[in-house]
Amino acid sequence: QIERTLVIVKPDGYRRGLTGEVLRRIEAKGYTLASLQVMTPDRERLAQHYAEHEGKPFYEPLVDFMSSGPATFVVVEGQRCIEGFRILAGATDPTAALPGTIRGDLGRDWGKKVQENIVHGSDSPESAEREIGIWFA
Ligand code: CMP
Repeated sequence: QIERTLVIVKPDGYRRGLTGEVLRRIEAKGYTLASLQVMTPDRERLAQHYAEHEGKPFYEPLVDFMSSGPATFVVVEGQRCIEGFRILAGATDPTAALPGTIRGDLGRDWGKKVQENIVHGSDSPESAEREIGIWFA
């Protein structure tokens, strides 16, 4: 069945000029870009988006980083695109992410308190609908 997932090209990806490269990989895989919006995310919606991480040591650095500049929010569509995009993205830690993945090819550890790992992808159909509702209300 056709799924939707929320992909974010995070502020590090935007600053480094990697937005087009990420979108290219999503399209080359065969997924569709259904909606796309560039904006600097506000802390209020980031708190909703990252509610499950509240209280973790990387939570405040994460909200600071994510609100530090423009990011690109994309609704991606396709068969099994939730799992498919997470495989394209690679492991959360860009040092450990395999070559061939977005984070493995384009990311690294910058010695920050938060993993600046270029992209976000929803982890389940429920998260996808919840996250799309936050950013594309
Ligand atoms: P994301 O998929 O957007 O979800 C939560 C984010 O927090 C994650 O990507 C990383 O940017 C960051 N993150 C997750 N785990 C850690 C960690 N152990 N240390 C630092 N940052 C993390």
